[in-house]
Amino acid sequence: MEAAGAEGDVATELRQRLAAGGQDHVLRFWPELDGAARRALAAELCRMDVAEINRFFRRARGDGGGAAAAAGLDARMEPVPRDVLGSASRDRGLVPRWESRGLAEIAASRVAVLLLAGGQGTRLGVPYPKGMCDVGLPSRKTLFHLQAQRLRRLQQMAEEQHGTPCHIPWYIMTSGRTMESTKEFFQKHRYFGLKKENVIFFQQGMLPALGFDGKILLEEKGKIAMAPDGNGGLYRALGSHGIVEDMERRGVHSVHVYCVDNILVKVADPRFIGFCLEKGADCGAKVVEKTNPTEPVGVVCRVDGVYQVVEYSEISLGTAQRRGPDGRLLFNAGNIANHYFTTAFLKDVVNTYEPQLQHHVAEKKIPHVDITTGQLVQPEKPNGIKMEKFVFDIFQFSKRFVVYEVLREDEFSPLKNADSQNGKDNPTTARHALMSLHHCWVLNAGGHFVDENGTRIPAIPRLKDANDLPIQCEISPLVSYGGEGLEQLVKDREFRTPLIIDEDGIHELVKNGL
Ligand code: UTP
Repeated sequence: MEAAGAEGDVATELRQRLAAGGQDHVLRFWPELDGAARRALAAELCRMDVAEINRFFRRARGDGGGAAAAAGLDARMEPVPRDVLGSASRDRGLVPRWESRGLAEIAASRVAVLLLAGGQGTRLGVPYPKGMCDVGLPSRKTLFHLQAQRLRRLQQMAEEQHGTPCHIPWYIMTSGRTMESTKEFFQKHRYFGLKKENVIFFQQGMLPALGFDGKILLEEKGKIAMAPDGNGGLYRALGSHGIVEDMERRGVHSVHVYCVDNILVKVADPRFIGFCLEKGADCGAKVVEKTNPTEPVGVVCRVDGVYQVVEYSEISLGTAQRRGPDGRLLFNAGNIANHYFTTAFLKDVVNTYEPQLQHHVAEKKIPHVDITTGQLVQPEKPNGIKMEKFVFDIFQFSKRFVVYEVLREDEFSPLKNADSQNGKDNPTTARHALMSLHHCWVLNAGGHFVDENGTRIPAIPRLKDANDLPIQCEISPLVSYGGEGLEQLVKDREFRTPLIIDEDGIHELVKNGL
C-alpha cells in the first residue's frame, strides 16, 4: 500500500510539473504500466528539464530566426583566404616542418584525440555502435581497432624521434545508447594495446523527439523517444563530465576531434597539429576539396567575416558553381568533421559560449505511440523533429581560425550506409578506399604486384567505379601510419594478393594458404 501511495505521489508531482510545460500527455498510459515500467518512466522524466526542452524547441523552431539568418547567405559568403589555409598537396614543401612540430608536441604528451561516437548510425542500421563495425578488410579489424593502432604507432614514432615515453589520451564520447557496448568492446579487446587509463569514456546528453507541435513523443507506452543531442552535444558533455579539467590535468594543449565513421582518419595527424600550432590557431578544420558543385557536402567559409560551415542546401546552385581565378570552385573547402581545438578554446566554449548555441532541427520519421489510440505508428513521411547541435557550431567563436586541406583519397571515406542501400559511403566503399590507399603506399615505396602467372599488374591504384575491385592490400597501422617506413619491407619486391603487412611480417595470403 505504502509503495503504491509513494508511486501515486510521484505521479501527481510529475503530472503537475509536466502539465505546467504542456507535456503531461506522456503519462497518458500510466495506469496501464506495471511497477517497474512506472519507475523507469518516472526516473526518465525526473531527469528531464521540461521547461528547458520547451525553450530549446521555441528557439530552434522559433520565429523564423533561422530562415532570416540564412537569407541572403550567398551574397554574404566569402571563401577561406589563402593566408589561413594550409594544403598537404599545394604546400608540400612545408609538410615536413609541420609534421616534425606535431610529432614533437605528441612526444611531449600535449596532444589528445577526441572521438565523436554518440551517433545512432540509423542509416548503417547495425545493432551495435558504428566503431565496432568490421567492413570486411582482410584483417577483419574494426574501426575502433584501426584508430587505436594508429595512435599506438604515432606514440611509437614520437618516442623514437624524441627519446621520451609519451601518450595520446583518447577521449571517447558515447551516448546513452552506445556507452555500455562500447566500453565492453574495449575491455574485451584490452583497449587494443593502449593503456586503459588513457582511454576516457564520457556520455553526451539526450533529448526527446518532438512532434511538429513541440509535444514529446513516446517510443513505447512507458518510454520517451530519446535521441542524442547531436555531435555538438560534445560541448555540454565536456562541461558536465569535467573533461576539460582532465585535459588540463594531463597537460594537453591540442585536441583533435573526429568522427567514428571515417575509415581513413589520421588520428592526431601530426601535420595538421603542427600546421595549427605554427599558425597559432585556437580552432581549425581539416577539409577536402569539393570538386563537384552539386556534391552534398557543407563548406567551410566566412559569412559576414565569421567562420562557419554552410550546408549545401543553404546556397543556390549559382553560388555552388562559382569558380576562382585558379579554376577551382570558389567554395571548395569541404567539411569532413575533423577539427583542431586548443584546450583553452574548449574551456571558453564550455564556460561561456555553449549556452548561446542554438539547436538545429532535423525533420524525421519517428516511430511513436499514438496518444489517442495507443497504437504504435511507423510514419511514412516525417512526423516530428530531433534537435541537434553540431560540432562545428563553435567556429564562430574562434579568434584564430585555420583550414587545412588534404587529399580525399588519402584521408576521407566515411561509413554511413549499409551495402544494400546505395553505392555510396558503405562498407564496400570504405574497405576499397583503405585498400586502394595501401596499394598506393606499396607502389610508392617501390613494391610491385603480380598476378597468378607472375605477370606484373599495371599500377592503376584508384578505383574507376564502385564495382571495380581494388588490389587486396592491407597494411597494419602498427607498421605504417601514413605510408612511411615501407621501403625496407617492399622495395623491388613482387607480391601476390591478398597481401597483408603487419607487425609479424608480410603475408601473401594465397601463397601461404592462409
Ligand atoms: P552522423 O551525422 O553521420 O550520424 O554522425 P550517425 O548517427 O553516425 O548516423 P545516422 O545519421 O543516424 O545514419 C557523424 C558523427 O557524429 C557522431 C557520430 O557518431 C559520427 O561520428 N555523432 C552524431 C555523435 O557523436 N553524437 C550525435 O548525437 C550524433
